Amino acid sequence: MTTVAVKEEWKSGTQLTLSDYNSWYAASVNDPEGFWREHGKRLDWIKPYTKVKNTSFAPGNVSIKWFEDGTLNLSANCLDRHLTERGDQTAILWEGDNPEESRAISYKELHGDVCRMANVLKDLGVGRGERVSIYMPMIPEAAVAMLACARIGAVHSVVFGGFSPDALAGRMEGSGSKVLVTADEGLRAGRKVPLKANADKAVEIAAKAGHTVEKVLVVKRTGGEIAWAEGRDHWWHEARERVSAECEPEEMSAEDPLFILYTSGSTGKPKGVLHTTGGYLVWASMTQQYVFDMRAGEVFWCTADVGWVTGHSYTVYGPLANGGTTLMFEGVPNYPDAGRFWQVVDKHSVNVIYTAPTAIRALMGAGDEFVTKSSRRSLRLLGSVGEPINPEAWNWYYRVVGEERCPIVDTWWQTETGGILITPLPGAIDLKPGSATRPFFGVKPELVDGEGKVLEGATEGNLCITDSWPGQMRTVFGDHERFEQTYFSTYPNKYFTGDGARRDADGYWWITGRVDDVINVSGHRMGTAEVESALVSHPKVSEAAVVGYPHDVKGQGIYCYVTLMEGETPSEELKKELVAHVRGEIGPIASPDKIQFSPGLPKTRSGKIMRRILRKIAEDDFGALGDTSTLADPAVVDDLIDNRQNRK
Ligand code: WTA
Repeated sequence: MTTVAVKEEWKSGTQLTLSDYNSWYAASVNDPEGFWREHGKRLDWIKPYTKVKNTSFAPGNVSIKWFEDGTLNLSANCLDRHLTERGDQTAILWEGDNPEESRAISYKELHGDVCRMANVLKDLGVGRGERVSIYMPMIPEAAVAMLACARIGAVHSVVFGGFSPDALAGRMEGSGSKVLVTADEGLRAGRKVPLKANADKAVEIAAKAGHTVEKVLVVKRTGGEIAWAEGRDHWWHEARERVSAECEPEEMSAEDPLFILYTSGSTGKPKGVLHTTGGYLVWASMTQQYVFDMRAGEVFWCTADVGWVTGHSYTVYGPLANGGTTLMFEGVPNYPDAGRFWQVVDKHSVNVIYTAPTAIRALMGAGDEFVTKSSRRSLRLLGSVGEPINPEAWNWYYRVVGEERCPIVDTWWQTETGGILITPLPGAIDLKPGSATRPFFGVKPELVDGEGKVLEGATEGNLCITDSWPGQMRTVFGDHERFEQTYFSTYPNKYFTGDGARRDADGYWWITGRVDDVINVSGHRMGTAEVESALVSHPKVSEAAVVGYPHDVKGQGIYCYVTLMEGETPSEELKKELVAHVRGEIGPIASPDKIQFSPGLPKTRSGKIMRRILRKIAEDDFGALGDTSTLADPAVVDDLIDNRQNRK
């Protein structure tokens, strides 16, 4: 195994060495109370905390509180406290989909806009603790809306702009949002995304289900034609002229909810992951500083959309809490061509870029010349997130993009964890391509087998975390029982991540991917159950089973086994219809890659679908089907193999 050793000449701002990492880590897990009492001070507290950690993973009594008697305001920590020193420094550097378009917004300007939006939200009737849904393109106003909610103590629920009206409706209903912030249209790769039209439909769908969205605040992005509901809809650019540019930040308790973010699990509907204020921001800001070596005045570019947790923690909150400049990119990696990322890096002198393996693989496939014709001299650190990065992509990123000058931080974490948990500390930890390396401070990973037995030494197993860290989610919004059930019941007294991992002889961690029915498609997390329920909602479908299969660019592709209703005939036309149907139900990110019509699915005698077999067939690896003797009808398998859609 090749190891890429820390380079003498690469120095991080924190100057931590390997031995510092080791002693800090030991302190953080041996005395979490003392460690976090100290590091919690990185925020500006209105009333300082006296209590630090009050957490329990005990069955039936899972409760997570950090800094619980402290008070603060998150937007003040991201804005107000920087005004004297860096009011004129760029806070958000926005790069449009169109390479001719960009904007620089200073901390002062951002502060003014956040205060204005906060006042507008108050005028629209939003109060402390109330939920606001945000359905936006990647424009600065998305961050403004999030920070404005935080300023007045409202709870934001950002819904990715690629989700369908149905998906948006479900999330507005689930979070009980009475106000929605959206834009007329988004712009991606030169194409328009009809956000307001989708929002209109979503409001209608929610209304039918008995949930009223009372106000819609609309940001003008393209100026395209949209429908308008008088009284309900309000233009942001008009409302902003009527309010003051000052808004006192609300004094919030550390444990007051900050945001809900819906994410997919192995069963049922997406869950509303709830994060609170103090611990979350301590985590986002501290990981931003130590993992990404964020330095004042430097430009950090996280390519994730604010609709995902990566966009929350590392496009908005982490960089701003540290007084950095965050680059927000509206477009896509291959528009106008596959050199766009590196043009943007040169144009804005980006120092650190943080992106996903799926983008790296796609750009790698386009050829080195798109990279080598750019300078990239400003880059000094590269990040990866969202799925396991294969060593080939890692090496390309390291060699071609970073010219062997920039360490790569392969960061493993989840929506639930609030921020990065396993990662190299750049400049301190030697790298191994494909390994997320070592736990961040305060993180105690553990491997267990299927029965929950703790595994020691170099081995592979299910990844758990045995103690709480400040950025951990606190509950599933409105359903604490589901929270306990999902994360703490498989292995009592531990947080179960749903991922598998390997620990090597050097104590390095290698994430192997999900061990549950969650798939990771182009870095987007999806429940196979969601795609199945979208498929069976089609009138011609009787039953469906969905699994992931290895895909060169996307990481995983979506493979659907579909059983039709009596009398329906399989056809290419029908496949197209089903693809369109799933896109309509969930959104384009859930488009099936393969559909196999199958008269029957492999089931046990008790009627349980044997997904293990379906996964193997989808991988075109049916030589290793394992034990099929428990199947009710073993002949089903032969038909599935004969008609498989993924022959190599
Ligand atoms: C996967 C994204 C390997 C993992 C921050 C996890 C990773 C899921 C990595 C969470 C990584 C994320 N290496 N796998 N560096 N980062 N994952 O909630 O399966 O969208 O459970 O959060 O992505 O996805 P989510």
